Amino acid sequence: MRVLLFTGKGGVGKTTAAAATAAAAAARGSKTLVLSTDPAHSLADALDVALAATPTEVDTGLYAMQVDAQAAFERTWREVQAYLLTLLERAGVDALQAEELTVLPGAEEVLALLEVTRQVTTGPWDLVVVDCAPTGETLRLLALPEALTWYVERVFPAQRRALRAVRPLLSRVSGPVVPREDLFDAVERLHAELLGVRAMLTAPSTSVRLVLTPEAVVVAEARRTLTSLALYGYRVDALLANRVFPPSDEPFLAGWAAAQAEQLAAVRVDAGGLPVRELAYRASEPVGLAALTELGTALYGEDDPAAPAAEAADLVGVERTADGFELSMALPLARSSDLRLARSGDELILTVAGHRRVLALPSALRRCTVAGAALTDGRLVVRFEPDPAVWMRT
Ligand SMILES: Nc1ncnc2c1ncn2[C@@H]1O[C@H](COP(=O)(O)OP(=O)(O)OP(=O)(O)O)[C@@H](O)[C@H]1O
Ligand SMILES: [Mg+2]
Repeated sequence: MRVLLFTGKGGVGKTTAAAATAAAAAARGSKTLVLSTDPAHSLADALDVALAATPTEVDTGLYAMQVDAQAAFERTWREVQAYLLTLLERAGVDALQAEELTVLPGAEEVLALLEVTRQVTTGPWDLVVVDCAPTGETLRLLALPEALTWYVERVFPAQRRALRAVRPLLSRVSGPVVPREDLFDAVERLHAELLGVRAMLTAPSTSVRLVLTPEAVVVAEARRTLTSLALYGYRVDALLANRVFPPSDEPFLAGWAAAQAEQLAAVRVDAGGLPVRELAYRASEPVGLAALTELGTALYGEDDPAAPAAEAADLVGVERTADGFELSMALPLARSSDLRLARSGDELILTVAGHRRVLALPSALRRCTVAGAALTDGRLVVRFEPDPAVWMRT
């Protein structure tokens, strides 16, 4: 079972590339499901078929579905929301405003990913192709399970214990606004499900394909995305450069082609060995199965669209050195000036250009101090030295 996630800046061709990849894989005999986590119905528009919240066979071996995040959302978030609503209304917030405040930003996308995980773990598929939301949103969501883990493991048990002790007292004073046990259960369930999502997204059989168009603004964002994806432990196996202008004698097109060629050359250098597949600008919108299959064939040729396009780099590794240990992590294209490193107890907190990741340290490293860090050749290396005080104690 393979999972391919398509992401990239808004409008670069994620839906088109995802559908084309799925069509090409199905044509080679893989039982393929393509689904969109985007609430807009653009996958149905690209395929030019009506889709439902369950897989529909749109061609031999090719299934597609539009995740009904709203239904999933109702199931999971309602209990939590009900509690928040009571709380806000008691605080005098207008009911309509309260309703808006309790909508979890990006919740639809998160819940769509829950459905993707269900399909991946229980479906009959050889390949699941996911058309994701634009990068900014996707990245925020990809960090969510970890952020929630931190909350559930640290803050939650303490709060739950404390509340158990004071609830009888509080309910006499303030009525039913104290979180109920079932609310904690709902959050814990959501958390367990999100951990499942994260496990699916970071599994070795899952790859991200980053779609871009060869334009300066798009390429700049793609660079940042590559670093952020690595930070969160996602494997990018290829870059897809879409809407590449063909060479032309006509000055307007020739100008574009020259500018794009320059961007493409830079992308290839920055990609550091990741394959960059090109897709030409078509004379018309590639809509419908025939156009998408043709696009998929142009994109992959004789290659299997589902095959991992690159050897996945060793994401996080720890090695013993003469002085202690070195923790290293692939962070392609990261700049030292964008990087912050902090140690908090048993954790290392890495921030790259505003994205934060909390790395739980292996036990040997917990008893060390950070001796230094360096960013070289797309890898961050953090040096650890044994902390004599701690080593003596154990
Ligand atoms: N190679 C191409 N040649 C011509 N038109 C293309 C090509 N690739 C995509 N398009 C068209 O560009 C438009 C945007 O493509 P698409 O919807 O796949 O982008 P997207 O990244 O999914 O957008 P969004 O961020 O809104 O989800 C569509 O009308 C699509 O048909
Ligand atoms: Mg789209």
